[in-house]
Amino acid sequence: MDQPKIRILFVCLGNICRSPTAHGVAYDLIVERGLTGQVQLDSAGTGNYHIGSPPDPRAQEAAMGRGHDLSWIRARSVEPEDFKRFDLLLAMDQSNYDDLLAMAAASKGHARVQRLRDYADGGEVPDPYFGDGDGFEGVLDIVEASCTRLFDALEANNMQVL
Ligand code: 4NP
Repeated sequence: MDQPKIRILFVCLGNICRSPTAHGVAYDLIVERGLTGQVQLDSAGTGNYHIGSPPDPRAQEAAMGRGHDLSWIRARSVEPEDFKRFDLLLAMDQSNYDDLLAMAAASKGHARVQRLRDYADGGEVPDPYFGDGDGFEGVLDIVEASCTRLFDALEANNMQVL
């Protein structure tokens, strides 16, 4: 495969709810748009509680309801090397964003750090983990809209980060 034009890492806290949802939704979008050779995707968490785990069953079930398979994703933590291995790190909320900026300074990498929802209506992708389960559909609504706009923007800009 040719070198991807852009390498994107989706980041939340646990890497079992929001960022794997974004990872799976983005994967399906790039397949749909014929961009698989141009984009490399991954997801990770700023925390280390769930390393090696598949996505939360509630996240998997909600995503599968919309045709997104997340079962192949396994949680890992963000590493300093990620700021060199990726071009764009997309945080799900402000706390993830602040944590990434704090790590970026020491990493000496060149990755841009942004918030995923800034590509749509702005704000955060709220953490659904401790909620009653309804939050997972809301996460999907935000993530689908934001990822669609993300790849619209990248395709309009020759797959370069704005
Ligand atoms: P995520 O959700 O950051 O969207 O994966 C969470 C998952 C687990 C925890 C917090 C948030 N936790 O504290 O274990």
